[in-house]
Amino acid sequence: MLDCTELTHGILLPIPHNHQHPRPSLAMLIDTLSPLHAVVLSVVAWVVWKVAYRFFVRTSLDKIPGPKSKSILTGNLGQMFDRHGWDFHHELGQRYGPIVKLSGILGQQVLYVFDPKAMHNIVVKDQYTYQPAEWFTESLQVGFGPGLLSVYGETHRRQRKMLNPVFSINHMRHMTPVFYAIAHKLRDAIAVQVKETPRDLDMLRWIGRTALELIGQGGLGYSFDPLVEDKPNDFGDAMKNFLPTIFHFQLLRFKFHWFTKIGSASFRRRLVEMIPNPLVQKIKDIVDTMHSHAVEILNGKKQALKAGDEAVVEQISQGKDIISVLLKTNMEASEEDKLPEEEILAQMATLVFAATDTTTSALSQILSLLAEHPNVQERLRREILEVKQGQEDISYDMLVDRLPYLDAICRETLRLYPPVSFVFREAFEDAVLPLSRPIYGVDGQAISEISIPKGTFLAVGILASNRNKEIWGEDALEWKPERWLSPLPEAVTGSRIPGVYSNLMTFLGGGRACIGFKFSQLEMKVVLAILLQSFKFSPADCSKDITWNLAGVKYPTIGKVDNHPCLPLKVELISIRNFESFIRFSRLASGDVSILGQKLIYRLC
Ligand code: HEM
Repeated sequence: MLDCTELTHGILLPIPHNHQHPRPSLAMLIDTLSPLHAVVLSVVAWVVWKVAYRFFVRTSLDKIPGPKSKSILTGNLGQMFDRHGWDFHHELGQRYGPIVKLSGILGQQVLYVFDPKAMHNIVVKDQYTYQPAEWFTESLQVGFGPGLLSVYGETHRRQRKMLNPVFSINHMRHMTPVFYAIAHKLRDAIAVQVKETPRDLDMLRWIGRTALELIGQGGLGYSFDPLVEDKPNDFGDAMKNFLPTIFHFQLLRFKFHWFTKIGSASFRRRLVEMIPNPLVQKIKDIVDTMHSHAVEILNGKKQALKAGDEAVVEQISQGKDIISVLLKTNMEASEEDKLPEEEILAQMATLVFAATDTTTSALSQILSLLAEHPNVQERLRREILEVKQGQEDISYDMLVDRLPYLDAICRETLRLYPPVSFVFREAFEDAVLPLSRPIYGVDGQAISEISIPKGTFLAVGILASNRNKEIWGEDALEWKPERWLSPLPEAVTGSRIPGVYSNLMTFLGGGRACIGFKFSQLEMKVVLAILLQSFKFSPADCSKDITWNLAGVKYPTIGKVDNHPCLPLKVELISIRNFESFIRFSRLASGDVSILGQKLIYRLC
């Protein structure tokens, strides 16, 4: 018999009748626990509760079809994030319809979505309900400050309002000479490598350096890399190292946002300084380096603006870069629209982060495809040379309007091989997701809308949408640039895909669509126009082993085991005739480029 009347430590405990040998009570056990045991016990209890909850509590998502969970701990996430997980993603797209249920951490339900109407709801109509998850934004906030990728709601809207006009076509036009100057340097640097004989070059490395320099000069008015020589740059190194270093804390990242809520920023800073872990200290140093360079660049711009037009024009991008234009617009903005300096600073690293790997991936993929398809490459080269006739460089308007084949190649590559395969969103409140047409649940019943419980994670399936056969036709999985040379079929134009670009989800859509999508297309076209005039690209001896790896931004490696990003292609200098502009350029240029140019002309003659 138990007498349940004694209250100990606030817990109602059963009291045994035999008081001579009392059995240990829960309260006594708790009293004997060390703080460490208590933490471990709480975590275990939390995990057990989470797992039990998922097993026993039914939700509206239970009926959605999807693959079986692979593990209690990580569900299907292992397959989803596997760098060789293309077959799994292909299966999600082809086998399970436009809404797929997946398992996340400890059985949490995740919806993979590529139904056009549902995607429209997520990224456009209910964009404030479905927002990037905190575990994603907080680590970027710690690294870069409150920039576009890491802020929410009104702050995000205000930042976009100031930044959207800075990315207008008019400003892109002014950016063109800056991009050409960088593309010329790239051409000169590669020409030196292959001047005597065709060679295998790691084009990923060259394109990566170029993409960083393009956003450096075009975005910040800052030069990371002269390209024609190897020069160390600690800002560039810090940017490159940020993601790989933070990746070591991948699992912690999911709970990282708790840390950012503890005390003031200076308190958290002191706390971090006390953590005796080399990786934590490395992240701190990286963040410090990024921040101090951003401050230095911004101060330089402010001083030039104060000193007047002459000082502005003397800057690297002559005051035409994104941050300079933003600074000027911000000064003229009303008090309610103005961005505080902290937010302008945060845009710098945000832009470099968002622009570099994405553009590198897309451009490298195009070069790789051109190497595999020599006829396409030859046709594109002819188009470029015909339009270029007599000009130093193809003008912005001609680049955009008079090179349809170049445009088709870019669009088709961005459709079939989007650098970002999916993006995550979290439902910040309960919501209802309508569908373009009903799907069938696991019980055979038609479902035309889905109740989404608060806290559900959703993956917007960029890859699956871009490859959807119902929209793009039976040849959706083939790389066919010609599909863009005639009007697109009604299935595409009428599909209401909510993407900002060409019925594709590559740059997403809605209020958080890629702000740099025009910038990125211009970069790609300028670089391709310059490279193809001078070089022929073909597969390197090891090209058959090149594997593209799935990641936040996909990247190539040689083989499936080595994880070193690399894209070897055979590069051949085509003919000296195509160096007319190079000769002219090197005569005009000064310093290293001129000497380099003279050396090269000497060798070629
Ligand atoms: C081929 C190249 C590119 C691709 C495929 C790409 C793709 C994307 C995607 C999918 C997003 C949405 C991310 C999300 O919401 O989770 C995004 C956002 C963003 N991108 Fe790009 N991007 C590219 C190039 C660029 C460039 C060149 C810039 C800058 C000049 C840039 C700046 C940004 C920024 C700042 C955001 C955040 C926008 C916001 O949240 O308001 N991107 N990009």
